[in-house]
Amino acid sequence: MTQTLITESKVLDALRSVMDPDLKRDIVSLNFIRNMKIDGETVSFDVNLTTPACPVKERLREQSRQAVLSQVPGVKDVRVNMTAEVRRPPAPETSRIKGVKNIVAVGSGKGGVGKSTVATNIAVSLAKSGASVGLLDADIYGPSIPIMMASSGEPEVKNQIIEPVTAHGVKLMSMGYLSGEMPLIWRGPMAHKALQQSLLGVNWGELDYLIVDLPPGTGDVHLTLVQTVPVTGAVIVSTPQDVGLQISMKTLRMFQQTKVPVLGIVENMSYYVCPHCGGRDDIFGHGGAKKAAETLGIPFLGEIPLDPAIRKHSDTGRPVVLAEPESASARALLDMTGALAQQISIQAFRTIPLTIIEE
Ligand SMILES: Nc1ncnc2c1ncn2[C@@H]1O[C@H](COP(=O)(O)OP(=O)(O)O)[C@@H](O)[C@H]1O
Ligand SMILES: [Mg+2]
Repeated sequence: MTQTLITESKVLDALRSVMDPDLKRDIVSLNFIRNMKIDGETVSFDVNLTTPACPVKERLREQSRQAVLSQVPGVKDVRVNMTAEVRRPPAPETSRIKGVKNIVAVGSGKGGVGKSTVATNIAVSLAKSGASVGLLDADIYGPSIPIMMASSGEPEVKNQIIEPVTAHGVKLMSMGYLSGEMPLIWRGPMAHKALQQSLLGVNWGELDYLIVDLPPGTGDVHLTLVQTVPVTGAVIVSTPQDVGLQISMKTLRMFQQTKVPVLGIVENMSYYVCPHCGGRDDIFGHGGAKKAAETLGIPFLGEIPLDPAIRKHSDTGRPVVLAEPESASARALLDMTGALAQQISIQAFRTIPLTIIEE
């Protein structure tokens, strides 16, 4: 009986039929396949995705397994190890934070829409998936991240470099730490300096994602951010009661004018789930953000319910994705984070020339 020879190139050819649904390319040309081993009738390899928070991880694992089993004669067993490495968009000249791969701004038209709540849960969800994450509270007028992450400690300064505080596996810095008692009179040059210091004077180390919680609206802090560092993209948080989403649209235009890609819109306080009967009530008439996203051709990242548990866990400093990970609200936040991580990967690949991916 002749043994069919299993070769690496036959396995790769089979894997070329597996497409990454977001990047719209096959996983071989994306250079995702690593560490292939062929041992008798068993083939094993890693599929190195672009984010540990990838929502289609299990689907890709199964598709890879099936592709090799069905297309390569002689293979009896396929072991697929799913790994991830967050890719860095090609850094423009202005890149100034060494080791930080992606900077993601979270903005909103006005305060009180849940921007800090969303930013905190995004940061913690990404860290939970295995990514290295930082969270910068750039809202000098109302810094709230230290409370939401229960990090009362102040950052230490060593050799003029600020050491971030770590909470729930996330490195934290708040402009509130620098502003002391006078946040309301912070304007122009002072805000500019404080943000620059929070970005460049902090020992962030190696980060896959640095999430920046911006002040509401449009203003000095946004401009300083985009002038100081390259921003991978921005997330806009909106609520259904935003009048015609007018205010969010202003924020959107500001990002577009400053050449920051908009990664998507999140609708927060979207609907209410009755804790007693489980019934759903669209108290503010939800869905406006989704419609606006469709009209504008911007990704819609998800809707987060209005849930007293979200507020309660924010107030006690343990975000709901940690405190009640199985709850519907936590799942909505985790799914939204997965959708965001996909958009960040797409953004990183959009700007990388093909030759680099296929090296
Ligand atoms: N989905 C939600 N359900 C219930 N409460 C929420 C939700 N999102 C935010 N909150 C609460 O609303 C208030 C404002 O949220 P916050 O994140 O501080 O808004 P912003 O940063 O936009 O000013 C906080 O008390 C927060 O706990
Ligand atoms: Mg806030």
